[in-house]
Amino acid sequence: MSYTWPRARPDAQWIPAGPLAQFPDVAGDDGNLIQPRRCDAKSLPGCRILHVPKTDPSKAAEIAIPAGAATSPTEGQDLKDQVLVFRYRDRMHAVDHQCPHNAYPLSNGTAFDIEDFGVVLSAALTCPKHGWSFDIFTGQSDRGSYKLPVWEIQVRDAHGDPWSGSLRSGTLNGETVWVRRRQRIG
Ligand code: FES
Repeated sequence: MSYTWPRARPDAQWIPAGPLAQFPDVAGDDGNLIQPRRCDAKSLPGCRILHVPKTDPSKAAEIAIPAGAATSPTEGQDLKDQVLVFRYRDRMHAVDHQCPHNAYPLSNGTAFDIEDFGVVLSAALTCPKHGWSFDIFTGQSDRGSYKLPVWEIQVRDAHGDPWSGSLRSGTLNGETVWVRRRQRIG
């Protein structure tokens, strides 16, 4: 009897999204994701945007954000296959760049805590176009059944191994951030 090992799906490929030290935490203010913040003694955009073709992720490329930009460079463009990567409250997140309601760039959105009577339950991103919000862990919208695709994210140490450190400690040593589309089971 012979077995054929299933070929890895192209979307199973991890894509580098940049050095961990270059993601400022966007939780410290009420600004949108993209606006620049102080990080590592520099002024850096609060997020990174990558175009990751679904059929061939090896052709992934970062979308340049002009220095000091306060709004998305992709407004009015086709946002398909773009992922938005950012750090919020010492955790890394990756979601589709395109708002699932009406294809607006969520890099113009603002992250916030979902709270109930002062207890933080989760975190979300508000799209400024019509004010809808999406949980950045589950993608669930606060309106109807719309869902924002959430990507898998991994932080690796300088040797390329999964990193188990804490962003809260503030000690970084060459870690990098990697993303891929969430894998379907089966
Ligand atoms: S386009 Fe995002 S809420 Fe409408």
